[in-house]
Amino acid sequence: MKSPLVAPSLLSADFGNLARDIEMLNKSQADWIHIDVMDGMFVPNISFGFPVIKAVQKIAKKPLDVHLMIEQPDRYLEQFKQVGAEILTVHYEACPHLHRTLQAIKALGMKAGVSLNPHTPVNVLNDIIHDIDLVLIMSVNPGFGGQQFIEHSYAKISKLKELITKTGSNTLIEVDGGVTLDNSHKLVASGVDVLVAGNTVFASANPVKTIELLKKI
Ligand code: DX5
Ligand code: ZN
Repeated sequence: MKSPLVAPSLLSADFGNLARDIEMLNKSQADWIHIDVMDGMFVPNISFGFPVIKAVQKIAKKPLDVHLMIEQPDRYLEQFKQVGAEILTVHYEACPHLHRTLQAIKALGMKAGVSLNPHTPVNVLNDIIHDIDLVLIMSVNPGFGGQQFIEHSYAKISKLKELITKTGSNTLIEVDGGVTLDNSHKLVASGVDVLVAGNTVFASANPVKTIELLKKI
């Protein structure tokens, strides 16, 4: 089995010591830095916006993996590029013209991701999988860190892996929400390429070691 990429979620970092936490990620084996943007409309929470991401980019030495939990993301694609997003993920549920949105993200020079909420079936991506660089499976309801993993996510991941293999696309599978050292192995075995982990990394006594353990399978 291939070792997964690990993308620690800054939502669980200490915002009073953000520079310190990013330096820690720079020195760790983290592959990407996961950035959760919430608008208080698509999800019942507000996180942070452009000035904060710009400040993160100045220190971060890893690609910024930006997860947009916002309505009408098309309004802001260019601004996310400007503040340093390398991978930009929108929610399927927030994009009535998903194909157009993905083309716009790629035209700006970013990798294009699509996220599915827990209730959204994988087969809605049947006719667009070739245009997607990354599918983010939400394994909790989006909006908050530290929630419990939804077990049905394994079945969705296997189904998505099947679709990707069957169609010969090279889309990556990312899982986000409730990822722990206990379920990471089974997630990778189900087909996950990228593990997002907030609480598991930042609430641990030794985040650098925890990142190393998440990558070990
Ligand atoms: C939730 C966010 C996640 C969150 C994950 O809406 O998309 O990225 O930070 O946090 P944990 O790993 O603590 O569940
Ligand atoms: Zn996220």
